[in-house]
Amino acid sequence: MLTLPRVSWQHRHLLGLEDLSAAELTAVLDMAEHFTHDADPPRKKRNHLAGKVIVNLFFEPSTRTRMSFALAARRLGAEVLDFSPSGSSTSKGETFIDTAKNIEAMGIDLVVVRHSATGAPHLLSQHLKASVVNAGDGAHEHPTQGLLDIFTIRQTRRLEGLTVGLVGDIAHSRVARSNIHGLTKLGAKVIVCGPPTLVPARIAELGVEVSHDLDAILPRCDVINMLRIQFERQRSGLFPSITEYARLFGLNSERLKVARPDLLLLAPGPINRGVEITPEVADGPHSAILRQVTNGLAVRMAVLYLLCGQPEG
Ligand code: CP
Repeated sequence: MLTLPRVSWQHRHLLGLEDLSAAELTAVLDMAEHFTHDADPPRKKRNHLAGKVIVNLFFEPSTRTRMSFALAARRLGAEVLDFSPSGSSTSKGETFIDTAKNIEAMGIDLVVVRHSATGAPHLLSQHLKASVVNAGDGAHEHPTQGLLDIFTIRQTRRLEGLTVGLVGDIAHSRVARSNIHGLTKLGAKVIVCGPPTLVPARIAELGVEVSHDLDAILPRCDVINMLRIQFERQRSGLFPSITEYARLFGLNSERLKVARPDLLLLAPGPINRGVEITPEVADGPHSAILRQVTNGLAVRMAVLYLLCGQPEG
């Protein structure tokens, strides 16, 4: 079995990047590096989590996060259970906590939870003995997405002094909040940019610069992370039309002409093609969108390993 370094890690849960220090963020990213190196050839299986049972408890849709956690757990030798609310006893009135406690009673070591309610993973962590990983809670945090975004940047850039633009629906984006906490702690400068109705007034208190003009900030950015419009979380009327939004805040090849030649383009996905990013840019040379997904596997292996696979003592 691959020998991994012991790292100092005090957390039983991963609820948000706001809770982690710069040293702890670096420890997860460094651990993910080991799994990236190890992932070549990628189908090598490990047994760091042999005998552990992990459940995916997703109350909102997901493609990337759900499959990535399941694969990460299996690569480490864990058993994986997959819960979906449709077809479950939640439709008979069972509460969120009762559902989780009943699943835990089958002998679960770690719960990965996604929920539309802010704080749902925090609530679970108070009721369960198992470790809890937040896979996205409302518009609050999506810590493993933040980690994989930062990991992808760190593969080719030094974070200290880097300028990262987060563009779009900042107000409803849990990815934005996790990126802000992680990037600022690791020394990057963050600019948030979007229509005034989609940028919360108090976001500057998190230590970021605020802009409503993508063309003005683009030449200053080393990295740009194009956030999805969260139609499912918005009330209507926050911008005049999709066409207007795309014209002012969408990334297209014309707009890219003022960007740095080595601009790194990230997007957490899923993307609305032609809204946040045009297809030729999403699939073009600046894009690291699919690399982010690949890196997500190594990052989630690192998170699972640190929370329930590292030898004690
Ligand atoms: N980025 C992200 O969370 O994607 P999914 O909703 O597909 O998991």
